[in-house]
Amino acid sequence: MSSREKMPIYRIAAEDLETYVTAIVRAMGSDEREAGLVVRHLMEANLTGHDSHGISMLPSYKRSIDDGNLKLGGAPKVLKDSGPVMLFDGENRYGQMVAHVVTEKAIERAREHGFAIVGLRNAHHIGRIGHWGGMCAAAGLISIHYVNGTAAMFVAPHGGSDRRFLTNPYCTAIPGMDGQPPVVLDMATSQIAMGKVRVAYHGGNEVPDGSLIDHQGRATNNPAVMYEAPFGALLPIGGHKGYGLAMICDLLAGSLTGGGSNLPERNMKNNIINNMLMIVLRPDLFDETDQVLADMNAFRSHVQASPAAPGVEAVLVPGDPERNTRAERLRDGVPIDGGTWDEVAAVARAVGVAVPNKPEPL
Ligand SMILES: NC(=O)c1ccc[n+]([C@@H]2O[C@H](COP(=O)([O-])OP(=O)(O)OC[C@H]3O[C@@H](n4cnc5c(N)ncnc54)[C@H](O)[C@@H]3O)[C@@H](O)[C@H]2O)c1
Repeated sequence: MSSREKMPIYRIAAEDLETYVTAIVRAMGSDEREAGLVVRHLMEANLTGHDSHGISMLPSYKRSIDDGNLKLGGAPKVLKDSGPVMLFDGENRYGQMVAHVVTEKAIERAREHGFAIVGLRNAHHIGRIGHWGGMCAAAGLISIHYVNGTAAMFVAPHGGSDRRFLTNPYCTAIPGMDGQPPVVLDMATSQIAMGKVRVAYHGGNEVPDGSLIDHQGRATNNPAVMYEAPFGALLPIGGHKGYGLAMICDLLAGSLTGGGSNLPERNMKNNIINNMLMIVLRPDLFDETDQVLADMNAFRSHVQASPAAPGVEAVLVPGDPERNTRAERLRDGVPIDGGTWDEVAAVARAVGVAVPNKPEPL
């Protein structure tokens, strides 16, 4: 581990954090609607426990705006529109805005046709993919999302020792029925999301075993290998299987949509570009009764009834950890590490927003 200090953690009420972050995003140049979409997404990421995709992204967004790599305002451009098939170009606009518009369209078309296949290319960072899966599930639809990124290379292929992929996330969301919450599997194809390495680095913490290799391909827990030369790499989840899924994300979200796979010539410093392929399905696509969702819910209950292993409270389903953390953080406030607090405060000062007093550290 490097000699970096362990950072204090502050806990701030969600509504106070939202007010502060909204002022920053507005001062960075977004109109009210765009700021609302961006801030809602960042807040939901923090509330659901994915701090790496929350307000800690603001310094990077600010750099991208300053470099002209993140365009403000506007809307995604429609490149193809033929019933259930649509393709959009995000034109480097805020991913939280363009992915919202594109997901709304995908929902509309899937409702109409039973399914929708929608591509989004060249969006600036679209954040937590579960946000978009959750939107579809809330509309009663099933959704499958493959995402790649052409910002940089972070993840080594299985059997390799240097970086070839971004952390290419995959998500599938299944709506619940009869009061059951949705199942939302939303995951990076790397052992941990790059943002979690950043949070660990800023927090002075180690990353879990099996997440990273150093520049010689040796296992390490030190997040500094992703920030300080000589650089190491993240490992894919599940060995060859996660590596395969990461590759599929580049081929479907990148090559198929035309946004491009993560070839080195597409890497842009300080700029996170995401492409996404969405497949959205009405649950009654093959069977117009409620049987499909009823069976899904029965299966979910069957799986959850497995007796918990020693040291585990209960079997959860994908999406449960986020729901539980959200309830806790809405009640107790959102924890922000000292490094993130200071970096966001620097952005606030740069755009003329008053920085609130630091809450007491935990
Ligand atoms: N935009 C991008 O380029 C990009 C890149 C990578 C990751 N991301 C986002 O980063 C976020 C974090 O990804 P991650 O892989 O670190 O997530 P994670 O490992 O925390 O969770 C992955 C999935 O596992 C589920 N899960 C966790 N613990 C569980 C348990 N005990 N039982 C059952 N299910 C459980 C979660 O609900 C989630 O669906 C995601 O929202 C992802 O979309 C975005």
